Amino acid sequence: MLQSYNPRNEHIKVFIGDQLYDRKDAKVSVFDSSVQGGDAVWEGLRLYENGILHLTAHLRRLRESAHALAFVDIPETNFIKNAISKTLLANEMSKDVHIRLTLTRGEKVTSGMDPRLNQNGSCLIVLAEWKPLVYDNANGIRVISSSIRRNGPQYLDSKIHHANLLNNILAKIQANFANVDAAVMLDNDGFVAELNDTNIFLIKDNQILTPNASACLPGITRQSIIIALSRREMLCIERQISLTELYNADLVFASGTMGQLTPIVEADGRKIGNEKGRGIFVEILAMHEQENMNHCEMI
Ligand SMILES: Cc1ncc(COP(=O)(O)O)c(C=O)c1O
Repeated sequence: MLQSYNPRNEHIKVFIGDQLYDRKDAKVSVFDSSVQGGDAVWEGLRLYENGILHLTAHLRRLRESAHALAFVDIPETNFIKNAISKTLLANEMSKDVHIRLTLTRGEKVTSGMDPRLNQNGSCLIVLAEWKPLVYDNANGIRVISSSIRRNGPQYLDSKIHHANLLNNILAKIQANFANVDAAVMLDNDGFVAELNDTNIFLIKDNQILTPNASACLPGITRQSIIIALSRREMLCIERQISLTELYNADLVFASGTMGQLTPIVEADGRKIGNEKGRGIFVEILAMHEQENMNHCEMI
């Protein structure tokens, strides 16, 4: 699915460092760590009428990712909340907004990998755009399995939500060439990890399954679904899942902040899904919407 340019975003204001800039002037230095090495962490947030969904969990993951990368001066949560609030206010935004929150290691005194060259503090970017949910949740999406593996902890732990996204971008390029919407990425052992940009769930014989979070981002939407299911005594089983199980599932769906819950109707040319699976998915959707209403946070 190719997102399109929204003219409403032409004159948005973007927060960088400690102030707001017009879109045309919103730039980071060529010495910034994100330019030099993708050395940054990020979160995708969604603003609804009653607040930002799971804001606390997103800010916690941002902080934990930055801590894992040994950032030395992670901004206080209140500073980040303030920056988000200023940005939304300046853009008169109150719903239907996607916020790309990025924290880079900051500007280097000279080009190079060494984090000791970062002597001016980290750099926070709040990019808020008018954006609908990115996938066609009514008709579902088609996927292929990618030959690019999702990183596990032996390479670059997928629990760090970093901006070094080339593995996932290469997988997405394969999906683009195959003319489908997204790519399923496998782990080092060939089991399903996640899509290039979302987590994945299967419904089979009344069971709900999702891959272990060993080589996928432990998504906040994923976690919210698992918790909501357990509260309703519908256990979600986290285990290794093979592509054959994916092809033969009663229903497969993707989960993420930017698209919410999206049915996957085809994988590697195999049609997926049946009436039984769709029936259970409708129940999960209703449960998920109810949960979302309870987890939006005003700032
Ligand atoms: C690779 C990947 N998987 C899954 C997700 C979904 O995570 P969340 O539910 O926290 O938005 C994202 C979102 O950024 C992602 O980049």
